[in-house]
Amino acid sequence: MDNKLMLMIPGPTPVPEKVLLALAKHPIGHRSADFSAIMAEVTENLKWLHQTQNDVLILTASGTGAMEAGIINFLSPGDRVLVGSNGKFGDRWAKLSKAFGLNVETVTAESGKALNPEEFKEKLVADTEKTIKAVIITHSETSTGVLNDLKTINRYVKDHGEALIIVDAVTSLGAVNIPIDDWGLDVVGSGSQKGYMIPPGLGFVSVSAKAWEAYKTAKLPRFYLDLGPCRKSAAKNTTPFTPAISMVIALQVALQMMRAEGLESIFARHQRLMGATRAAMKALSLPLFAPDEAASPAITAVAPVSVESEKIRSVMKKRFDIILAGGQDELSGKIFRMGHLGFVCDRDILAAIASLEATLTELGYESFTPGAGVAAAAQVLTQS
Ligand SMILES: Cc1ncc(COP(=O)(O)O)c(C=O)c1O
Repeated sequence: MDNKLMLMIPGPTPVPEKVLLALAKHPIGHRSADFSAIMAEVTENLKWLHQTQNDVLILTASGTGAMEAGIINFLSPGDRVLVGSNGKFGDRWAKLSKAFGLNVETVTAESGKALNPEEFKEKLVADTEKTIKAVIITHSETSTGVLNDLKTINRYVKDHGEALIIVDAVTSLGAVNIPIDDWGLDVVGSGSQKGYMIPPGLGFVSVSAKAWEAYKTAKLPRFYLDLGPCRKSAAKNTTPFTPAISMVIALQVALQMMRAEGLESIFARHQRLMGATRAAMKALSLPLFAPDEAASPAITAVAPVSVESEKIRSVMKKRFDIILAGGQDELSGKIFRMGHLGFVCDRDILAAIASLEATLTELGYESFTPGAGVAAAAQVLTQS
């Protein structure tokens, strides 16, 4: 049926009607008092969402742009950086860092497993000369549905004292608690098409006072993504270049919705949706790719054995207009991923699981009792 599409991918995520209506408005001038008033409100609400008094800067860029800005503004050629790499996005920050001439050391974990904080500790403790300038971590590794233990890794970075912690929070911000000021996170990057409930196009970077100190001596080339001018303009509620004005207007509405829901409720909702999805997959005897103790509240990756992932995705799309994500790179064809990030409610999970059951039946998969997935999801949803 036309116009019934249900996005269950980890981004772009579904967009609320209120936000879509805001996007339909005429753009206004970005040097106008009206736009400055929106920037002032949005900036205050971004700080609320990030749980910080640090600068939270808005870029017209995707999440990768936000992360590039978060890396290149604070480092110099040849700087030693530790990059956590247990999936596509961790790998990306290692590649990006190499492309800019940084001295990259990766700390890896098998696909589907979390990074081991003790491996970071070992390298940080051994670094008595303080040559490690930054530790770059992907909090929620979207490619595998793994949530890395940012809190513990950050604690080791703090003990080191010198290195900055730079965090990819692209699919964790707005889904799981990231108390930036409490934990002392230096740089946190994210993108609009995820927990923010608006389309792709904006990137966000929060920057600590310690990172701004590093900015003063950082020598990597930068221009469009130079956060210095961005900060100066933000102080006057404007931007150095023409921003994606309509997206900022959409962001204003989305952040108002988030404030009305409240941070605790937002985190609890994502936890509940993750719990229901995982319970359902277990009831359907579909193996989960990430372990319970390192599961991302944004996305659940599933590695079916006696039924093909790509067939599941294809039937879900054709019969039910539900879009699931596939595996990326070497995981292509091996897993499917169900997003539960952003504007997603209990009903969406029940609909998706019921449709998944019907899909499995259509594909001749017999390792489950019909209704078991829905019942397991419903139980989690009603109990939490
Ligand atoms: C964890 C993570 N980091 C970075 C990105 C890249 O963001 P973008 O595609 O907006 O550049 C994504 C996108 O899915 C992501 O999930």
